[in-house]
Amino acid sequence: MPATVVVGPEGAELFYDEARLRRADALPGPVRHTLFGDGGVQTLDDEDHRRRKAMFMAVVTPASVGELAALTAAGWEATTARWCQEGRPVVVFDEARDLLCRCAAAWVGLEVGDDELPALARDLATRVDGFGSPGPAHLRARLARHRTERRMEAEVERARRGGAPDGSPLAAVAAHRDADGALLPARVAAVEVVNLVRPTTAIAWYVAFATLALHQHPGWVDQLRTGGHDLLRAFVHEVRRTTPFAPFLGARARRDLTWHDHDIPEGRLVLLDVHGSNHLGRTWGDPEAFRPERFLGREPGPFELIPQGGGSHDLGHRCAGERVTIALLEAAVVALVGLAWHLPPQDLRVPLRRMPTRPRSGMVLDRVRPARA
Ligand code: HEM
Repeated sequence: MPATVVVGPEGAELFYDEARLRRADALPGPVRHTLFGDGGVQTLDDEDHRRRKAMFMAVVTPASVGELAALTAAGWEATTARWCQEGRPVVVFDEARDLLCRCAAAWVGLEVGDDELPALARDLATRVDGFGSPGPAHLRARLARHRTERRMEAEVERARRGGAPDGSPLAAVAAHRDADGALLPARVAAVEVVNLVRPTTAIAWYVAFATLALHQHPGWVDQLRTGGHDLLRAFVHEVRRTTPFAPFLGARARRDLTWHDHDIPEGRLVLLDVHGSNHLGRTWGDPEAFRPERFLGREPGPFELIPQGGGSHDLGHRCAGERVTIALLEAAVVALVGLAWHLPPQDLRVPLRRMPTRPRSGMVLDRVRPARA
């Protein structure tokens, strides 16, 4: 179908102007059927969106993100101690996926047994992995969607019988009421619970890319070991900027528009080129170079660094979990730079024909040991 593609800060500004663009009918079926599910916050507009988004933003307060980050940091300590003790090769992506899923489940307040967690982590990652691929990966993602939504529906019902920990994200979603005053249908509440656990697990993609960046830019390992939090934050921003994750986002024109001499008719699909915006020469200068210094001493503007969307977290569709992502990726990088390792021969290529993509090997590390041992 015809589409208008916009790029860069001014493109993002148009894309996030909700007086001009809407989301309701913009998400392609294959993405709804795998990644997001039906009835979730991603598909809402205007007052319905603001109310549902407020529920998410009330869950990701600095205190709550701090608790999750502490849980994850402790998880990395135990995981890396095991790597050092066992001394056998580990796949960073798989390890991060399982660890992040376990921490997310505990944080959200799910009652998922240790025996259930690896399968849940795999199903959530399969949903992310399959959203942009036709064929078997798509089918696997659809099946995984049904399993995870059924499982989370049971958690919502348990919460509604008073079984969720007080103040937990699960309790908040289960008790949330939309503008009509009614509780969310259990199926939709399950979609929103998944909207917390699935993307937290997906931070494993960034952890794999952070590991690759540390391998390719060893000077940064030393800098991060001795440097302060500003360096860590800058490194994490650069990993998010350079990682090819969500390639573009879609919305539809609410009415006939003119933008930079282009006519955009009512109903036209408008795509925000996310990857292109994060690699645009006029925004970044030398965009293909991995240079965390570009973020030192400043926070990027709302439409500048947009791997997780742009604009306002509270009012627009920008990722509700961006601060979670930054905090958890920082915890992972701190754990990784505390180690020394050997990188055995492996396929480090990042195929750009699939989305999301990652280093093919998942980043295999061998002979892992504490950095100064
Ligand atoms: C790998 C890390 C992540 C990436 C790459 C990512 C990326 C994105 C992107 C591109 C969007 C769409 C923005 C838009 O439609 O304009 C989004 C939305 C969203 N993300 Fe994330 N995200 C990540 C982690 C998280 C985490 C950790 C959470 C929750 C704890 C989260 C929760 C959400 C929610 C609820 C939305 C929907 C927001 C809305 O429609 O208003 N994400 N994310």
